[in-house]
Amino acid sequence: MDRIIVTGGGALKGEIPIAGAKNACLALMPATLLSEEPLTLTNAPRLSDIKTMTELLTSLGAEASSLQDGQVLAMSSHDINNHIADYDIVRKMRASNLVLGPMLARLGHAVVSLPGGCAIGARPMDLHIHGLEALGAEIELRDGYLHARAPKGLKGAVFEMNFASVGATENIVMAATLAKGTTVLKNAAREPEIVDLVACLRKMGAHIDGEGTSEITIEGVDRLHGATHPVVTDRIELGTYMLAPAIAGGEVECIGGRVDLVRAFVEKLDAAGISVEETARGLKVSRRGGRLSAVDVTTAPFPGFPTDLQAQMMAMLCTADGVSVLEERIFENRFMHAPELTRMGADIDVQGGTATVTGVKKLKGAPVMATDLRASVSLILAGLAAQGETVVNRVYHLDRGYEQLVRKLKGVGANIERVSDT
Ligand code: UD1
Repeated sequence: MDRIIVTGGGALKGEIPIAGAKNACLALMPATLLSEEPLTLTNAPRLSDIKTMTELLTSLGAEASSLQDGQVLAMSSHDINNHIADYDIVRKMRASNLVLGPMLARLGHAVVSLPGGCAIGARPMDLHIHGLEALGAEIELRDGYLHARAPKGLKGAVFEMNFASVGATENIVMAATLAKGTTVLKNAAREPEIVDLVACLRKMGAHIDGEGTSEITIEGVDRLHGATHPVVTDRIELGTYMLAPAIAGGEVECIGGRVDLVRAFVEKLDAAGISVEETARGLKVSRRGGRLSAVDVTTAPFPGFPTDLQAQMMAMLCTADGVSVLEERIFENRFMHAPELTRMGADIDVQGGTATVTGVKKLKGAPVMATDLRASVSLILAGLAAQGETVVNRVYHLDRGYEQLVRKLKGVGANIERVSDT
């Protein structure tokens, strides 16, 4: 199994290209199931989660090829000859559940395994189910699988979610594009990945309004056609690399970065003492000098502070001057990085969904391990400024969400290596 070794020390300088968004791509790919015509995605990230979604789509009968070194995904769902999303694939990745809405809309039936346990909380699917039921689907849970049918086809309806779930919004919007009549989704999620999905569905011929607000209206059409669509910039990868010079010092330009994707995050960086400048090519990030200041952070659905940047932000606050309070409001049990950061010398007290971080002057390298993607990368970031060597195990988590992480950080002068035991 591979490990990543980071030796903390020098300031960083240079540029890092930001890839297309994993989470947008994982929602865009199942949209191929809505049409018989080809869907091509450009600016796709090269990640193991994208391979998992490709595997799932091809298991259903779709064709998918990866071109231009994986940056272009050419898909076609002319023939969907299987309607069962198998547990063996779904258990690897929760986003597999995004095939449910499109399959139901296109075929009138779908059987999708429940994703099962997840390291960052229970993560149920009740909102996906109730939303699709509101559109006329009949859904039963048997043997760990959701058996969904829409014998009379889906019909537009008004549905209000009691929480703005990203995945449920995506599933319901995709299903509603082929439903009869108009669907109004209230308290919809407003994430940029949903705006990107809607832009693509519109190119495919869908009639949708209100994306990026909490009310999305979808007028069903008889069929969707093919399209080509570039995947939006990955705001979580962007935020992660913006934190690299914030933690290690120096100046890094994140190519393709946009403030509108990470505004709440940039406000917190500014309060901590980090400069973010918009350039013609992206965002230039530098540390204003001296020790960073503590800031309080509460995660929230977009446009709030993203839960997917909470672990990385905590890594930065470990060495800020003062006490920072981080509140995790999206997922329960999402502080698994805290004990590992503590092993590196951080002072963190976790009580339920609140972590209190008292800044220390310096972290010290240590062997560490994390159980999810963002927690793992937070340990790499912490290692960039820690004294000595940090060895991060279970690197496969990082491969799910960060393409060429070692190369990108090496490119700005970080002392980082990936080593294989075999
Ligand atoms: C997506 C992102 C993930 C991010 C999360 C929140 C993808 C592939 N993943 O995940 O990286 O951390 O948004 O920004 O886009 N919930 C329910 N019932 C449901 C659905 C969700 O109670 O039917 C709860 C979940 O348990 C969780 C919260 O809502 O506590 C957020 O989930 P949701 O917004 O659905 O996140 P995902 O789409 O799974």
